[in-house]
Amino acid sequence: MSTKTKIAGIEFDSYIFNASGIKDDTFEELEEIAKSKSSAIMLKSCTIGPRKGNEEPREINLPLGYFQSEGLPNLGYKKYLELIPKLKKYKKPIIASVVGFSLEEYRILIKAFQESEVDLIEINLSCPNIVEEGLPIVYDFEKIKELLDKISNLGEKPIGLKLPAYLCYVLQEKMVNLIEQYDIPFISSINSVGNSLIIDPEKETTVIKPQRGFGGLSGDYIKPIALGNVRRFYELLKDEVSIIGVGGIRTGQDAFEFLLAGADAVQVGTTFEKEGPSCFERINKELEEILQKKGYTSIQEAKGKLEYL
Ligand code: DHB
Repeated sequence: MSTKTKIAGIEFDSYIFNASGIKDDTFEELEEIAKSKSSAIMLKSCTIGPRKGNEEPREINLPLGYFQSEGLPNLGYKKYLELIPKLKKYKKPIIASVVGFSLEEYRILIKAFQESEVDLIEINLSCPNIVEEGLPIVYDFEKIKELLDKISNLGEKPIGLKLPAYLCYVLQEKMVNLIEQYDIPFISSINSVGNSLIIDPEKETTVIKPQRGFGGLSGDYIKPIALGNVRRFYELLKDEVSIIGVGGIRTGQDAFEFLLAGADAVQVGTTFEKEGPSCFERINKELEEILQKKGYTSIQEAKGKLEYL
């Protein structure tokens, strides 16, 4: 039994790999992912210059998830360009993730990775922890259109979008409209849920320091939202665009639910944070067992097969 899959035409040895943002910003961390059973090496979202990120404490483990306002700590894109050749020897797809603070920055980042040896490029439109003037790009469809106009002809590598949790179906339709116009071959859905707040009732304080305690929520808490977003996208896009499910994948059963909803693969963040790199193999094995028990012989056979009552 294998959980081999394809995203935007690229082959992945299993259905499970790491989500951007968890233990993936230094070479040592990326090498640990490379040596694990994660079927790809997803890089931390990078910016033009290196960043230290927000003040500490900026993250906290919760009973059913993870909460953070990291503020994009990363080595700067040039450093990741240097690391890519060293990661190539592990023979797994490498996915870059980029965040620009202007359209021109996005253009520079995407051009650089188009000229590198990465296999896929993810545009992170939905980092919840950066304070911007005005509407964040992900809620501004005109701005996203401008971005896609600017970056569509920079190279041949597949470019995907990391999307936020949409709590309204009409916004997903608008996004799909752009995805179809620009021939975006994959999306990752969903990012951590921003504008969240965790309170310590004993101390009567926030639990993280940046931005008066607001941050992005991940893990079990957000799984139903992620499943809803993935399913809606699958209904709208069918098999034309690969969908990577992200949000609360802790067990093989979680991965199987994302598969039924229509995801081509899943990324694991919170569970990697809590359990370490052995989680990729465990979740994949659990998924294989479920598929076997149910008589499925491939990912493709079960994908999107959710039935309605
Ligand atoms: C950060 C958090 C995110 O959820 C994301 O998508 C990108 C960056 C961060 O704060 O570093």
